[in-house]
Amino acid sequence: MRKQIVAGNWKMNKTVQESTQLADEIVGEVKGLTLDNTRVIVTPTFVNISEVLKVTEGSAVEVAAQNMHQAKSGAYTGEISAEMLTSLGLKTVILGHSERREYFGETDAILAEKVDAALANGLEVIFCFGEVLEDRKSDNHFNVVESQIKNGLFHLPVDAWKNIVLAYEPVWAIGTGETASPEQAQEMHAFIRKIVAEQYNAELADNVSILYGGSVKPGNAKEIFSKEDVDGGLIGGAALNAEDFIALVKSF
Ligand code: G3P
Repeated sequence: MRKQIVAGNWKMNKTVQESTQLADEIVGEVKGLTLDNTRVIVTPTFVNISEVLKVTEGSAVEVAAQNMHQAKSGAYTGEISAEMLTSLGLKTVILGHSERREYFGETDAILAEKVDAALANGLEVIFCFGEVLEDRKSDNHFNVVESQIKNGLFHLPVDAWKNIVLAYEPVWAIGTGETASPEQAQEMHAFIRKIVAEQYNAELADNVSILYGGSVKPGNAKEIFSKEDVDGGLIGGAALNAEDFIALVKSF
């Protein structure tokens, strides 16, 4: 049975004090929950990961990284390698976020290399993709999503997919308050599961968690998460305060 996941992408927010405070509040709230099949993940910025890990240790709250470089090591000023993340004790990394693609020029080819490096180091990958508004308006969104998934992931062998989580994030819904409707999310998630099944097999496709991201809030999460092929969310703004984030964890 595929896991339900609520992952908070903290992006470039929170000082170390604010990060440990938020993590502590989330850990405290999660203690009182029966999570069953639900994973809770937070992703502080690199500089705050170690301190947040001290807070979450022994709890059901997992910590992930927001990115990593594909090289093993070397002259890449400002970058972080997979091995550095695993040396901290991290098990999961987000790759391919639209903000990395847009602001830092991360192409499908670069992301395929990052995926390979992450998997080679035993990391689980939350792989992000999604169309911009022009793609959707021109009814090209399915082609764009299929291309991003194919170019980023379809070179992988079957057994690699046990460490892949998919995150569909329509760019036009990120940070805008303009959420995809539950029906739009379900339609795209079903399409994604179909193309994965066609490339690999139905069992693999059925077992991969597909998260939705883009203005998920306590007021819309329950309806979105209730959709058959939506297995949770990758959360931005609503992840930055414990009350809203926990409300999302309770939304299944
Ligand atoms: O990675 C999740 C993020 O892009 C969604 O942001 O603020 O629309 O929930 P937000």
